Amino acid sequence: MKGLTLVSLCSMFFIFTTSDGADTIAVNQSIIDGETIVSAGSNFELGFFSPRSTSLRYVGIWYKFSSETLVWVANREAPLNDTSGVLQVTSKGILVLHNSTNVVLWSTNTSRVPQNPVAQLLNSGNLVIREANDTNEDDYLWDSFDYPGNTFLPGLKFGRNLITGLDRYLVSWKSTNDPSLGDSTTMLDPGGYPQIFIRVGENIVFRSGPWNGLKFSGMPNLKPNLIYTYEFVYNEKEIYYRYDLTDSSVVTRMLLTNDGILQRFTWTSSTRTWNLYLTAQMDNCDRYAVCGAYGICNIDNSPACACLDGFQPKSRQDWDSGDWSGGCVRKNESICRAGEGFQKVTSVKLPDTRTSSFNMTMDLEECRRVCLMNCSCTAYSTLNITDGTGCLLWFEDLLDIREYSETGQDFYIRLSASDLEPTRSPKRTTRVWIIAICLLVAGITILGFCLLFLMRRRKMKTVARMVSMQERDYSINSTDKDLELPVFDFATIATATSNFSGANKLGEGGFGPVYKGKLEDGQEIAVKRLSKTSTQGLDEFKNEVICIAKLQHRNLVKLLGCCIESEETMLVYEYMPNKSLDAFIFDQKQSKLLDWSMRYNIINGVARGLLYLHQDSRLRIIHRDLKASNILVDYDMNPKISDFGMARSFGGNEIQGNTKRVVGTYGYMSPEYATDGIFSIKSDVFSFGVLVLEIVNGKRNRGFIHQDHKHNLLGHAWKLYKEERSFELINDSLKDTCNLSEVLRVIHVGLLCVQQAPEDRPTMSTVVLMLSSNIALPDPKEPGFFTERKLFDHESSSTKVDACSANEITITLLTAR
Ligand SMILES: *[C@@H]1O[C@H](CO)[C@@H](O)[C@H](O)[C@H]1NC(C)=O
Ligand SMILES: *[C@@H]1O[C@H](CO)[C@@H](O)[C@H](O)[C@H]1NC(C)=O
Ligand SMILES: *[C@@H]1O[C@H](CO)[C@@H](O)[C@H](O)[C@H]1NC(C)=O
Ligand SMILES: *[C@@H]1O[C@H](CO)[C@@H](O)[C@H](O)[C@H]1NC(C)=O
Ligand SMILES: *[C@@H]1O[C@H](CO)[C@@H](O)[C@H](O)[C@H]1NC(C)=O
Ligand SMILES: *[C@@H]1O[C@H](CO)[C@@H](O)[C@H](O)[C@H]1NC(C)=O
Ligand SMILES: *[C@@H]1O[C@H](CO)[C@@H](O)[C@H](O)[C@H]1NC(C)=O
Ligand SMILES: *[C@@H]1O[C@H](CO)[C@@H](O)[C@H](O)[C@H]1NC(C)=O
Ligand SMILES: *[C@@H]1O[C@H](CO)[C@@H](O)[C@H](O)[C@H]1NC(C)=O
Repeated sequence: MKGLTLVSLCSMFFIFTTSDGADTIAVNQSIIDGETIVSAGSNFELGFFSPRSTSLRYVGIWYKFSSETLVWVANREAPLNDTSGVLQVTSKGILVLHNSTNVVLWSTNTSRVPQNPVAQLLNSGNLVIREANDTNEDDYLWDSFDYPGNTFLPGLKFGRNLITGLDRYLVSWKSTNDPSLGDSTTMLDPGGYPQIFIRVGENIVFRSGPWNGLKFSGMPNLKPNLIYTYEFVYNEKEIYYRYDLTDSSVVTRMLLTNDGILQRFTWTSSTRTWNLYLTAQMDNCDRYAVCGAYGICNIDNSPACACLDGFQPKSRQDWDSGDWSGGCVRKNESICRAGEGFQKVTSVKLPDTRTSSFNMTMDLEECRRVCLMNCSCTAYSTLNITDGTGCLLWFEDLLDIREYSETGQDFYIRLSASDLEPTRSPKRTTRVWIIAICLLVAGITILGFCLLFLMRRRKMKTVARMVSMQERDYSINSTDKDLELPVFDFATIATATSNFSGANKLGEGGFGPVYKGKLEDGQEIAVKRLSKTSTQGLDEFKNEVICIAKLQHRNLVKLLGCCIESEETMLVYEYMPNKSLDAFIFDQKQSKLLDWSMRYNIINGVARGLLYLHQDSRLRIIHRDLKASNILVDYDMNPKISDFGMARSFGGNEIQGNTKRVVGTYGYMSPEYATDGIFSIKSDVFSFGVLVLEIVNGKRNRGFIHQDHKHNLLGHAWKLYKEERSFELINDSLKDTCNLSEVLRVIHVGLLCVQQAPEDRPTMSTVVLMLSSNIALPDPKEPGFFTERKLFDHESSSTKVDACSANEITITLLTAR
């Protein structure tokens, strides 16, 4: 759907003629259809346009370099039928749009009587009416930033002026070709404690959570970055959120789509496309109140919804059938009794604050006391996490809570004495000790196994490969309407692959053999035949296939269809004749075929493909096994990421409950993933960084040998970088043909991706931006796993007993293949 939005936006056409280059319209002057004005820095242009497939005329503002991208429309509800429109500034200081019979279709208004008004299009995209001799921002008679459309530009104050009551909020277009007011809105709601809501019609679809001093509680994506700064202002006069560019060479905007998704785009000038940088809604847990009252959503769990401690489903039957909207109720309904208290709920998005009240000066202890004294107070929390001040108190059911694996906030929920976690009695302590000792013994044993296994594995070339999807709870209904994926019958595929003959076998994937085939119409296919032992239900499998089928991107291998017949489940992919990337970059002869521009194209393509996997707003997929052999290349040497999302179909039942199976390939695995089984999009970023350095250098990270030191490729690259000799990392065959500054930038980005700490690594959207623009790059910190030895040190450290628990055994099991 979002893809569509872009495509259709891009195919709009406009009719306009010359502009005289001015950025102002003076009093009694006008512009007619065909004329435009351009802002002084040439960022924006204002004039008449028609959306695609209509002949209606609107007055709007668009990017000068991308006239398809409208940022503001004046007469959204009153289009002209012809090109007779005239836009004029009157001596009263109002801008009017009228047609040839002088009927006013749209106008601005102002409360002041001006001397000598003038309208000016500023380079920020703001259209202002001001006194000709007064450029002070506070004295504008009118400005378009006060009446935004579907686009939130840098510098716009999104929110309310509490004195005049002016509310600046976004209303989507009706459709991609119809600028009239659509169903989706996003506005800052001052109720309780301010939050941003996105609504489709009357229904809330997303809530940002309250501002906590650093960011919105429910928008972990919003964090300090290279592109823009942001602030939230809340005082007696106004409440607003705004962002401002730090680097004026970068172009970014936020757009509310007509289906209620708030997206941020950045402009990639090299490809002349808008690149989806992030979306407010990341996944299913961001659907407003998806788990009902007192429910908590965790996207890594299956099912995603659970009741908070001390609560149970209101209707067990509904809950178990996947309808969580009824929410949860207290196990013990009798509250406001002696002994009751609060239980801490950690790392979450705070509940809806519309039913809360706050006090900026109280501290947490006072907050607790106040909450305890009032029986209708259900929970409390700190307001400002930077200094721990302020108090938020909730007085109704707690709604829309989700749990984050990385950074969330804490709050305290009221529970009756019987539901509070019992305090530890001495008896219990001994039990804890016994368990701890048992664990320690088990840990040491497992550690032994791990070391043994790791020593063996060093010799092994082939490694466990398996891919999995993070998400497990997309309630995609497998109605036939959704099943757009072609279903092949078994006979067709058997014929295409000459009955799965050995000659047609391309290799053995993680879950069964892969065959080459040719359909009757001549199309070449690759068929993955899945092991029959999989016990997965048919519906579940179908659902997953549908998920994967919805992923369409030019840098992902395309799924053509599937085959589900009796015992057989097979996936049919497009066939890639050029094999995988490892056959090129690590091979002396073949690598000569890949010059720098091809490699650069491959790096950029993989980055975009991965970004798509990470950021498609409804299906956030972590590849978990990105490596050279999983990048296929087509005839034109365009990269296609393969093997994504598969393990979910097959791994699901393999090791029930162990959601932290470590699957992947050594050499590409991030430290936190290999040792602790913690995976996130940042583990993919790490693998991407390794891949980038391999593409530049032509040697594998694992097995890299250098006469001077014992580092692997990452360590080598880091050493060279520190000594400002990154040039030496470049493969000899490239040194003559490459664009040096480009390669050095790529190496720099690669090193940023492989940094030890996940939070230091950029997201893929930043990576894409870094690769495509000249934005200043931060200095990388030390990479993870830069010596082989480090891996051992890490795992044998005694504090990491559980690091080596089930996860490592799983690797052992997997390596058996
Ligand atoms: C603009 O037009 C109005 C009405 O025709 C006239 O009264 C006024 O003097 C004009 N102002 C200027 C600056 O030309
Ligand atoms: C456009 O045409 C429609 C129908 O022909 C008419 O109802 C409407 O008033 C016209 N609007 C304008 C601005 O001319
Ligand atoms: C101007 O707009 C009015 C109101 O929509 C409409 O009735 C009239 O026909 C329009 N005039 C022309 C020339 O389109
Ligand atoms: C003009 O002012 C009126 C009331 O003063 C207000 O309701 C309306 O929204 C304003 N319109 C614009 C375009 O400023
Ligand atoms: C603009 O000019 C008017 C009259 O010409 C004057 O009263 C006013 O003070 C001027 N404003 C500024 C900001 O110079
Ligand atoms: C939160 O605390 C920090 C540090 O004292 C302060 O700078 C900031 O303004 C506070 N934010 C709010 C919203 O009160
Ligand atoms: C906030 O709490 C302090 C201390 O308890 C109190 O003095 C103050 O009146 C409270 N402010 C508001 C707005 O309730
Ligand atoms: C408890 O808090 C609610 C909401 O602030 C208030 O209406 C009610 O009067 C309070 N009750 C007591 C006993 O203070
Ligand atoms: C609920 O809690 C009260 C006091 O905390 C306790 O007396 C009562 O037995 C509890 N009821 C249940 C069903 O646990």
